[in-house]
Amino acid sequence: MRKLAENIFEVGTIDWDRRLFDELIPLPDGTSYNTYLIKGSEKNCLLDTVDPPKVNVLAENLKAAGIKQLDYVVAHHAEQDHSGTLPAILESYPHAKVVTNQKCRDMLIDLLCISEDKFYVIEDSRKLSLGDKTLEFISTPWVHWPETFSSYCPEEKILFSCDFFGSHLACSNLFVEDECRVLESAKRYYAEIMMPFRKPIRNNLKKLEDFDIGMIAPSHGPIYQNPKVIMDAYNKWTGEQVENKVVVAYVSMHGSTKKMTEYLVEKLIEKGIDVKQYNLTVTDIGELAMDTVDAATVILGVPTTLTQAHPVAGYAVNLLNLLRPKTRYAGLLGSYGWGGKTVKQVTEGLPRLDVEFLEPVMIKGYQKKKDFEAIDKLTEQIEQKHKEDVNVK
Ligand code: FEO
Repeated sequence: MRKLAENIFEVGTIDWDRRLFDELIPLPDGTSYNTYLIKGSEKNCLLDTVDPPKVNVLAENLKAAGIKQLDYVVAHHAEQDHSGTLPAILESYPHAKVVTNQKCRDMLIDLLCISEDKFYVIEDSRKLSLGDKTLEFISTPWVHWPETFSSYCPEEKILFSCDFFGSHLACSNLFVEDECRVLESAKRYYAEIMMPFRKPIRNNLKKLEDFDIGMIAPSHGPIYQNPKVIMDAYNKWTGEQVENKVVVAYVSMHGSTKKMTEYLVEKLIEKGIDVKQYNLTVTDIGELAMDTVDAATVILGVPTTLTQAHPVAGYAVNLLNLLRPKTRYAGLLGSYGWGGKTVKQVTEGLPRLDVEFLEPVMIKGYQKKKDFEAIDKLTEQIEQKHKEDVNVK
């Protein structure tokens, strides 16, 4: 149990060992499931719970906090890493009501079979008094599910933001100490989870401007005592501007696509453009996603195998399409043996991205002089597009 403010504690748990989320997202630094306890002068309230395998830790922490009666459990979000322990908590504290909005209530009934009489349904802007402390509910949908909301405690100026502003970072300090380190984890988290919802998140950020926020307590990672750090970062990540940067992600079967990729990267560097090169067979997809948060251009190096785009590259295309970065230009290079549908597959595989496709450089067999000249032309095109685009800084 760790204290945030007078009678407000963190009673969740750190998950040092977790390395994958949703069987998809790498967690190189583990994570935490932050659960907050407010001991009001009249009511006790828990804010979210923990991932089910950690149920005993939460139960022990509540016992250690001397909680014999729990009046409310606020469920900000129905995903199981925060809600999955609700049934166990309701069994231990049968008097408690689950405070949530209508959409989250319906999802909790679907996902966890919680009985309908356990809910106290609230609406946007409603307030809940705990005696000397209050919670005001703020609808912040699509961070990253449609039902999610945040709670604001005006007496302590704390925003409990659930997944919003979180970071998958297991660490022993309750509050952010090394801002650069935490921002790196927060950026990865934004890229992997929040990026597809960039526009609704901008609306949520606007909404939060009406609140005097002194502290942001998310449900993953350390707490921000200087909220400006993470709010500025979110404003930048969700804004329209991108950087003079190219992400080049490739896979190569016999070295031809690799050679083209390396040639392109060398030429881009010569032109002073920031480049990140990723070999997709060994790449941590979280790092790749993180670099697409602010890259103006993504170039995919894709060989053709059995007339199709190489499946490893196909996975990256699928992932980019899901994560929907604000990338402005996309390109393709690669080699083939006798033909195929790679260009069609890749260009048609990114319908959710608002990108302009650059002329692909697809070559038969190994590179000849004219193929390197085509890559020179692609480099020049990237440089020119970046220079002319007002959203590239
Ligand atoms: Fe941390 Fe969307 O759950």
